[in-house]
Amino acid sequence: MKPPAIGTAELRDLIGEPIDRLPTPSVIVDVPALRWNIGEMAAHAEALGVALRPHWKTSKCAEIAALQVEAGAVGLTAATANEVAALAAAGFADVFWAYPPVGGPRVATAISAARRVRLIVGADSAASVSELGEAAVAAGTIIDVRLEVDTGLGRTGVDPDNAVRAAREIAGTPGLRLEGVFTHEGQVQGVGADAARRTVTGLAAGRLLADVAGGIRNDGMPLASVSVGSTAGARSAPTVEGITEARPGTYVYGDENQVAIGTVDPEHTAITVLSRVISVERGDPVLVDAGIKAMSADGSLHGDGRIGTVVSDHGGVLAMGHEEHGFLRGASGLRVGDTVRIRPNHACGLSNMHSHIVAVADGVVVDIWSVLGRH
Ligand SMILES: Cc1ncc(COP(=O)(O)O)c(C=O)c1O
Repeated sequence: MKPPAIGTAELRDLIGEPIDRLPTPSVIVDVPALRWNIGEMAAHAEALGVALRPHWKTSKCAEIAALQVEAGAVGLTAATANEVAALAAAGFADVFWAYPPVGGPRVATAISAARRVRLIVGADSAASVSELGEAAVAAGTIIDVRLEVDTGLGRTGVDPDNAVRAAREIAGTPGLRLEGVFTHEGQVQGVGADAARRTVTGLAAGRLLADVAGGIRNDGMPLASVSVGSTAGARSAPTVEGITEARPGTYVYGDENQVAIGTVDPEHTAITVLSRVISVERGDPVLVDAGIKAMSADGSLHGDGRIGTVVSDHGGVLAMGHEEHGFLRGASGLRVGDTVRIRPNHACGLSNMHSHIVAVADGVVVDIWSVLGRH
């Protein structure tokens, strides 16, 4: 029996209609804001003379990747095997998989994707690419590897003091070629709303990575790419001499956490969840149909535990959620059936939870885009 749920095909019938006619909750992407973000970051990278390779995990939409490439991106960055496979299947030619290709299934994805795209994989040690090297030799191919350097986030990434040794080991592994170095300077976002400290932190990350690249080159290993990547660090880290590439992701939508720390202006955020008021019986909170299954579980950098922020005139914050129930506090004048638009704390987490997004312009549905390569 065919399930009666509204799917992408039925949603396409709403193209040209006002967004209030959409089923709720629906993820809404404002196309003029999206295009502004894509154009502005492309111009920023061009002015710095660095390549732009946006992290695709934020949107997972082929249509958005195409806009980014059209605006000058040299390629895209991916985190998961499904994202890599989806980009390859969608015909994008140049993919950096910024995640250690550890385990048989990831190795298989890398080998298969490398047949279709120019693939670079990220790793912080020879151990995490040894299986890939063996598979590349067996497949008669050579895979490019970027060495991940920890410039302060404290996640994956080789300690800078050990980078030359790790680079030598990777460069010496049959089936692999050392292509460059990279870092995700997520510590810049961690600094929060202090713009001056963010700049200092981003510059320090860029300088450290450029120094590490210099040390590896001095040891006799050529490097094509020295790549930094984050939205909060996009105005500082790639400005450092020697950085060749920037990989911001969240910038394409912006989100409430970027607004909270001041790295994205509210008017340039492109993503919201359209939600409907389902009950006003409590007074405050008002109950809406966007609960935790519609919003991302990422915490708020406002520090008040909210899971979303209302952008409509009614105001208020989505203070908490059950699965399908959102608890809106501080909103005014809402009645049952009214719609509100709620900005998520974190855009990338939100995208992964939805099978499609609704592209809108001036409050009208203009397209339905699939979210690819989820999970
Ligand atoms: C390896 C890597 N590069 C780039 C990015 C993009 O950072 P942002 O989402 O802050 O733009 C991320 C985000 O988590 C990442 O993990």
